Amino acid sequence: MDKRRLAALMGATAILVAACSSGGASPAPASQGAASEAAPSEGTASEGTASEAAVDCTVAVSWNNYQQPRWAKNDQPNIKDTVEAGGGTYIDADANLSNEQQLTDVDTLISKGARVLILLAQDTKAILPAVQKAKDAGIPVIAYDRLIEDPDVLYITFDNVGVGKAEAEAVLAKVPEGNYVLIKGDPGDPNASTFLPQGWDEAGLKAAVDAGTIKILNGPDGTFTDAWKTEKAQQNMEAIIAKANADGNKIDAILAENDSTALGAAAALTGKNYGYPPLSGQDGDEANLQNVAAGIQYVDVWKNANELGKAAGAAALELCKGTALADVALPDGLVDPTVAPAAGLSAQDFETPDGTTVKSFILQPTPITAENLNLVIDGGWITKEKLCEKVTENAPAACQ
Ligand code: BGC
Repeated sequence: MDKRRLAALMGATAILVAACSSGGASPAPASQGAASEAAPSEGTASEGTASEAAVDCTVAVSWNNYQQPRWAKNDQPNIKDTVEAGGGTYIDADANLSNEQQLTDVDTLISKGARVLILLAQDTKAILPAVQKAKDAGIPVIAYDRLIEDPDVLYITFDNVGVGKAEAEAVLAKVPEGNYVLIKGDPGDPNASTFLPQGWDEAGLKAAVDAGTIKILNGPDGTFTDAWKTEKAQQNMEAIIAKANADGNKIDAILAENDSTALGAAAALTGKNYGYPPLSGQDGDEANLQNVAAGIQYVDVWKNANELGKAAGAAALELCKGTALADVALPDGLVDPTVAPAAGLSAQDFETPDGTTVKSFILQPTPITAENLNLVIDGGWITKEKLCEKVTENAPAACQ
């Protein structure tokens, strides 16, 4: 964490350190979730000072997965650093894509003394029994990145409709008519099933389909990708290319919802020697930004997950203090102003697709194309050297 921000946060949370009840509970042990490729931090207990160790503000995170790079690289360390800077203790578990394991993980985290639960849900509905258990135990729940359909969660995420909109706006501007392919993420994730497609439509996709200027080759709703897996997206895309070829159709553009699915789509295009029609993604993963620089992916909607992690960590500290969901505010200066919620630093109402109102913090994404790749370098997200690794010709300005 940036030292200036860390200092500001420590100041802001000094009161909390005194306010949190001092049960003297020993820091909880490491994650109990199923084994994962990149396991959550082992021995995740804080190594803070003696006085910090006495603070009983255990923030527990249940990750549904650790597959995409962002979770281990950006989200986790920023939640952990922020919680620990405020004198709290961080514990976590990875459910490795299993609904059942995630329910067990939440039980375990509660039994280990969680005072606040941060949930990255595998499935927006399957997680509800775990949320109920937390509520019964008086533990506030943060729905992290993905919505959970429960009125009592604090929803902290990026503007997911805005992400979809930014993806489609960029691709539609480049390819206003023609044959589109839609590659969606996991069907149990509302980002994949609801918010991103809503953003695509708001950008004009539906109107163009209705007008007949755009045809969805894998229509009407595109193809979901179980667990957002790259290999699965690649297989799906290979089948879509084969069918398009058989039908004599050319693929003009591909809307892929995130970077792991975009990598699969790009791998299928490479494997079939198809060339690279404009392709979208989101997250700002290293491999995808390299693809943007190399002309393989057209747009990558960058979600600076460092900032999301900080926001959730700070909100968790507030909740630990006993602050009501509606009164939670993010410390001034903690979150980069270009990413911070457009609606301000206090919790806002968010209307869910089921018609429930939850309190929320909705952070802002940034679309990245070859034209503005300098933003990810200037923002310290990736080095120029890494970004430009795959560039062989037509180097974008950021790589010159
Ligand atoms: C997140 C994306 C992520 C995907 C797969 C979505 O809910 O918003 O950032 O790439 O899950 O983990």
